[in-house]
Amino acid sequence: MLTVGLLGAGRIALVHATAITAHPESKLVAVSDYLPENAQKLAAQFGAEARSTEEIIADPAIDAVLIATPTNTHSDLIEAATRAGKAVLCEKPVDLSLDRARACLANVGESQQPVMIGFNRRFDPNFAALKGALDAGEIGKSEILAITSYDPAPPPIEYIKVSGGLFRDMMIHDFDMANFIMGGPPVTVSAVGTCLVDPAIGEAGDVDTAAVTLTYADGRIAVIRNTRRAGYGDQRVEVQGSEGMLQVGNLGENLMVKSTAAGVVSAKPVLFFLERYMPAYAAEWGAFVAAATSGEAMPVTLEDGVAALAMAEAATKSAQTGQPVNLADI
Ligand SMILES: NC(=O)c1ccc[n+]([C@@H]2O[C@H](COP(=O)([O-])OP(=O)(O)OC[C@H]3O[C@@H](n4cnc5c(N)ncnc54)[C@H](O)[C@@H]3O)[C@@H](O)[C@H]2O)c1
Repeated sequence: MLTVGLLGAGRIALVHATAITAHPESKLVAVSDYLPENAQKLAAQFGAEARSTEEIIADPAIDAVLIATPTNTHSDLIEAATRAGKAVLCEKPVDLSLDRARACLANVGESQQPVMIGFNRRFDPNFAALKGALDAGEIGKSEILAITSYDPAPPPIEYIKVSGGLFRDMMIHDFDMANFIMGGPPVTVSAVGTCLVDPAIGEAGDVDTAAVTLTYADGRIAVIRNTRRAGYGDQRVEVQGSEGMLQVGNLGENLMVKSTAAGVVSAKPVLFFLERYMPAYAAEWGAFVAAATSGEAMPVTLEDGVAALAMAEAATKSAQTGQPVNLADI
């Protein structure tokens, strides 16, 4: 039984507490939060104890910690937990600063403790099936990848202000998905970003609508599109290959299609990430438990987290300068 401490008791922590508790080989022992009342509420809901972050990390009876705190705390907590001998699953992104994330990678290397980064979309059954079919050669060699990732509505402006911006906070999932599907990072990153949804996001120095083109050493191309406002929610992946195409469309709330003289209508997509990716979060936790208890390599590594963050940094720079950025220069 893997004993687990959960750091942070906010939006995503609730999802993880559910997955940890549902898994037959893990037990949620303790929850911490900067605001103790948050920790107490979540701990009580899942039969765990509310403790401080320091107490959880220092407890030798806790095998693993799940870091679900704001992004600016991640590197510090990854280092503290691995120094204390814990296996770690940390939410994306690794850090707001690429330099800090790279230092964290070097420091964790010395501790030899396993760290997984929470790129949950790799564990979505539909995207995993696409990756499996591509790797099995079912459409030949990949040539163009298109990722559409549109949220239904922006998060609160207070979250935006500490998020690191759209490329580090939101598109980071798509950078990792591109690395996952294409088998490694691109050579160049070209980005455009604009503020069309909420002027407050622009005033906070961020964009809410963006498109990125990635080019690969062997000539392949990927295109990623994000907006923080698509009222119906939209998450699709399409790979064009030398012998065909693989597509994952949106998941409908139900399968009913109504056909009348007025037209053909189906249910809207499952709206937001908390609903859309619940099976992926559970599968992600299952993969972490399997690796932590068997000693096998983590399926998504700290290196993967740093690679995606480097692409976010390159995209941020490209959107600011209007020039393509060589990833090797980042
Ligand atoms: N993988 C995903 O799909 C996904 C989705 C949402 C958020 N996230 C990531 O998860 C992280 C948290 O996001 P959220 O939306 O849950 O934020 P949130 O603001 O809802 O929750 C964060 C919680 O952490 C607490 N906290 C702050 N500093 C702390 C510390 N040092 N120790 C313990 N608790 C602390 C805050 O009081 C708050 O309750 C972010 O890094 C975000 O990028 C990932």
